Amino acid sequence: PKLIVVTRSGEEREVMGEAGLSVMEVIRESGFDELLALCGGCCSCATCHVHVDPEFAAKLPKMSMDEDDLLDSAGDRDATSRLSCQLPFTDELDGLRVRIAEED
Ligand code: FES
Repeated sequence: PKLIVVTRSGEEREVMGEAGLSVMEVIRESGFDELLALCGGCCSCATCHVHVDPEFAAKLPKMSMDEDDLLDSAGDRDATSRLSCQLPFTDELDGLRVRIAEED
C-alpha cells in the first residue's frame, strides 16, 4: 500500500510500504531520518509522533492508555496525533497521509 509522508519542512513524498509493518517502520525504511523512533517501537519514547489525516481516523486502531499518556508529553499534540509505531500498516490504509510532528 501507498503512504504519503509530509516532512517538517512541508515536503510531501509518496512511498510504498509493506503491509504488516508499522507506519513508523514504513516511514523509517523509506529514509525519513527526522522521525527518530528512539525506542524502536515499544511505545515508550513518543519520538514517532505523527499527525494523521482525519479522513483515515476511523480506520485506525483505538489508542491504548500508554499511547495516550505518552502523547500527553508531546508539545505538538492535537486531535490527529498518534504514535506511528502503534499503527499497523494495512492494505485498508492505502493512501494514508501522515505529517511528522514537530520535535519537542
Ligand atoms: Fe517509541 Fe513509537 S517508536 S513510541
